[in-house]
Amino acid sequence: MTEKQLDRLAKLPKAWIAKKQEVAEDLFLIWLRPEVPFTFKPGQYITIGTVGIERPYSIASAPHESMVELFIEHVLPEHGGKLTPLLWAQHVGESVSMRPRAKGIFVFQPQYHNHVLVGTVTGVAPFVSMVRNAIHEKMRGHHFFVMEGASHQDEFVYDAELERLSENYPEMITFIPTVSRPQAERNMGWNGATGRVNTLVEDYLAKWSLPKEDTLIYLCGNPGMIEDVTEKLKAKDWHVDSERFWKEDE
Ligand SMILES: Cc1cc2nc3c(=O)[nH]c(=O)nc-3n(C[C@H](O)[C@H](O)[C@H](O)COP(=O)(O)OP(=O)(O)OC[C@H]3O[C@@H](n4cnc5c(N)ncnc54)[C@H](O)[C@@H]3O)c2cc1C
Ligand SMILES: NC(=O)c1ccc[n+]([C@@H]2O[C@H](COP(=O)([O-])OP(=O)(O)OC[C@H]3O[C@@H](n4cnc5c(N)ncnc54)[C@H](OP(=O)(O)O)[C@@H]3O)[C@@H](O)[C@H]2O)c1
Repeated sequence: MTEKQLDRLAKLPKAWIAKKQEVAEDLFLIWLRPEVPFTFKPGQYITIGTVGIERPYSIASAPHESMVELFIEHVLPEHGGKLTPLLWAQHVGESVSMRPRAKGIFVFQPQYHNHVLVGTVTGVAPFVSMVRNAIHEKMRGHHFFVMEGASHQDEFVYDAELERLSENYPEMITFIPTVSRPQAERNMGWNGATGRVNTLVEDYLAKWSLPKEDTLIYLCGNPGMIEDVTEKLKAKDWHVDSERFWKEDE
C-alpha cells in the first residue's frame, strides 16, 4: 500500500465497537456507533476496516436503530480470512475505520408486494434489516417470505426473532429455516425443513402460489446457492436480484 493510500485510510471516519457477541462457532454480531451521521437503505452495506484492510458488510439493523448491527463469519486465516480474524480479536471500546456512505443496490423494492428473501448464514443480514424496517414503518400490503439455509441449526442466529415476528405478523412474515446436514450431531432435535435452501425454493414458491409479476426473489450469501437459484428461476421468468458475498473460485 502506498503512503498516499495509507494517509487516505487514516483520514476515514471511525466507528466505535459498542457491543459484540459470539453467537455460534465462528459467527459473531457486532454493533457499531459511527462517529459521523450515517444513513442507509435496508439491504445496503457499510465498508469497515482496520490496519488498511477494508471489507463490505450488509447491515442487519434497520435505519431507525441507534447502532449499526453486523452479522459476521470469522473466516480463519487458513481459509483465507484477513479482516475477520482482526475483527474477531477486537474488543468493545475499540474502533474500526468506516467509509462514510452506505453503498449497494440490493435494496428493498416496494413496487413488488411479495418478497422472497433467500439467504445462507450471514446472508440473512440484509433481510433482517428489511423486515425490521417494514415492521417499524408499519408497512401494509407486503409479505416477506424469509428462507435461510445453514449447515447447522445454531448458525441461523436470527431465528428466534424471525419466528416471533412470523407469529405476531403472520400476514406479513413467513420464516423457513432449513439445515443441509440433518444427520450432524449439531442438528440433534431439529424438526424443521432439511436440504440446501436452493433445492427448496421452487417447491415453496409453488406452495405459496405467488404471482410472478408481483414477486421479487432476493438471493444473498453463498455464490453457489445464488447461481443455482438464479439459473432455475430466471429460466422460468421470475424476477431475481442477488448479492454475492464472495466469488465461487475464492
Ligand atoms: C456486498 C457484500 C456484503 C457482505 N456482507 C457480509 C456480511 O454481512 N457478513 C459477512 O460475514 N460477510 C459479508 N461479506 C463478505 C465480507 O466482505 C468479507 O469478505 C468476509 O468477512 C471475509 O473477510 P476476510 O478479510 O476475513 O476474508 P476475505 O479475504 O474477504 O475472504 C476469504 C474467503 O472467505 C470466505 N467468505 C467470505 N465471506 C464469507 C461469509 N460471509 N461466510 C462464509 N465464508 C465467507 C470466501 O471463501 C472468501 O474467499 C460481504 C461481501 C460483500 C461483497
Ligand atoms: N470459519 C472458517 O474459517 C471456516 C470453517 C469451515 C469452512 N469454511 C469455509 O468457509 C466457507 C463458508 O462456510 P459456511 O459454513 O459459513 O457457509 P457455506 O459453506 O456458504 O454454507 C452455508 C449453506 O450453504 C450451503 N452451500 C455450500 N455450498 C453450496 C453450493 N455450492 N451451492 C448451494 N449451497 C451451498 C451449505 O450446504 P452444506 O451444509 O451441504 O455445505 C449450507 O447449507 C466455505 O467455503 C467453507 O468451506 C470456513
